[in-house]
Amino acid sequence: MAAIEIKNLRKEFNHGLKAVDGIDLEVKKGEIFGLLGPNGAGKTTTIRMLATMTMPTSGIAKVCGIDVMSDPDSVRRCIGIVFQDPALDDQLTGRENLDFHARMYGIPRGEREKRIDDVLELVELKERADDLAEKYSGGMKRRLEIARGLIHRPKVLFLDEPTLGLDAQTRRVIWEHIKKLNKRYGITIILTTHYMEEADSLCGRVAIVDHGKILAVDKPSKLKESLGGDVITLKVNDSRKTADLARELKGANRIKVHDGSVSISMANAGSAIPGLLRKAEGLGINVESVDLHKPTLEDVFIHYTGKTIREHEASSSDMAKRIMRARMR
Ligand SMILES: Nc1ncnc2c1ncn2[C@@H]1O[C@H](COP(=O)(O)OP(=O)(O)OP(=O)(O)O)[C@@H](O)[C@H]1O
Ligand SMILES: [Mg+2]
Repeated sequence: MAAIEIKNLRKEFNHGLKAVDGIDLEVKKGEIFGLLGPNGAGKTTTIRMLATMTMPTSGIAKVCGIDVMSDPDSVRRCIGIVFQDPALDDQLTGRENLDFHARMYGIPRGEREKRIDDVLELVELKERADDLAEKYSGGMKRRLEIARGLIHRPKVLFLDEPTLGLDAQTRRVIWEHIKKLNKRYGITIILTTHYMEEADSLCGRVAIVDHGKILAVDKPSKLKESLGGDVITLKVNDSRKTADLARELKGANRIKVHDGSVSISMANAGSAIPGLLRKAEGLGINVESVDLHKPTLEDVFIHYTGKTIREHEASSSDMAKRIMRARMR
């Protein structure tokens, strides 16, 4: 039995916005699975439907083999969730936060203490357990939230942006904790992220999500291989002319124009660069910079969506500004 089964799942909001637009997905038990996409892609909405916090408009979603619409109570018993927005009580200690949650789940008194100690140990917060949560650093708060999501021993844990806003080093510490609990307890983990490195180093498989649709699903290594070789990125003054030139290159597998740059995927990319630059010069193209690298998930993302994740987010914040301006008028 799969941990998650989704068939043609949709969520439309009142104003007709298709937040999740017909997705199909199967996640096996014990996987760490990532939904990778920009702001507004529909990641949180997908997780909320799986966690029975919002009703799908149509389609089927099963968690641990249980339908989220017909038996939400049973689904809730088998899942844990850590929200995108922090949801701790700062005026309680770490231990009290966990105890409150354990009581909500009706875990008997004798059992509570042991479970709280177990999860505190897992996220290495035992020494700070009796400090107020307001005294915790961002990374410690996140770890406490993960501990809280584990108190009732869920089979599936949803982590919505588990490292949002944390510095790179703290992010790595959280990744280690996530890997540890996946390995030690075999918990299936579904996480959302818009950090490429997070999806790459943490997730066994990744779905690239944009505008409510899943554009590709595979292991990070397979997604990168599918681009067909290393990537040359040229920052130029004329991306159209450069793309035309790239199309004439022998062995060029994929050519993408984005943000004033042209990315070309090809085998033996390094040896193609000198010839490419000579031709560009001959055509009067001004090449500002050349970059050669092994394909990353960012390249995969550009391939499927035509933009970097930052460009997506810049345009969605532009849109938000336009809406604000229109409202103020
Ligand atoms: N309760 C709601 N009512 C109306 N629209 C909503 C609601 N929740 C989400 N949306 C819209 O649905 C779309 C998807 O939102 P969602 O929060 O799922 O995106 P996300 O991928 O989690 O983004 P982020 O990376 O910013 O967290 C967005 O356009 C959002 O504005
Ligand atoms: Mg979200």
